[in-house]
Amino acid sequence: MDYKIVARIPDIETFARLRAISGLSPRSRDGMEKGLPNSLFAVLVVHRGHVVGMGRIIGDGGTAYQITDIAVDPIHQGKGLGKAIMAALIDWLEREAPEKAYVSLIVDGDARHLYGKFGFQPVMPASIGMARVMVKTP
Ligand SMILES: CC(C)(COP(=O)(O)OP(=O)(O)OC[C@H]1O[C@@H](n2cnc3c(N)ncnc32)[C@H](O)[C@@H]1OP(=O)(O)O)[C@@H](O)C(=O)NCCC(=O)NCCS
Repeated sequence: MDYKIVARIPDIETFARLRAISGLSPRSRDGMEKGLPNSLFAVLVVHRGHVVGMGRIIGDGGTAYQITDIAVDPIHQGKGLGKAIMAALIDWLEREAPEKAYVSLIVDGDARHLYGKFGFQPVMPASIGMARVMVKTP
């Protein structure tokens, strides 16, 4: 298997490309410029010099963390890369996150099976996830 997991924050082009081809919604250029350098940790999957997957951890670095932007190029899906990304992110959290830190993520559809393997539990029915996408009026 010609895949390498490297600890690196995706650049804007890679981030936007991987989100788009894996069916995730777009982010603004301004948002990516501001946000990506603030990642606490991120990994890329590199296949023959080309980035085909990514995953990030964001948060305050002590009490609350979120796993986000897990995406694998559809051509390379179903080969264990999502699991490898998650394993690398969880490995970092186990080393870095203090006792009682809260780690959350929002799951799209059937990808919940992937996160269940790493100890994540649905918050429903006691809680529900809520989200809002910012819309700026000119
Ligand atoms: C979710 C995603 C990252 C999984 O990547 P992947 O490389 O295909 O995942 P893996 O091959 O490592 O599979 C990991 C496990 O999760 C399961 N799984 C992954 N995606 C799944 C899906 N959509 N439906 C059902 N099971 C899924 C696999 O069956 C596998 O289980 P197994 O070990 O028992 O066989 C990838 O499908 C993707 O990029 N999807 C689009 C973007 C997305 O939804 N991101 C997550 C947002 S929450």
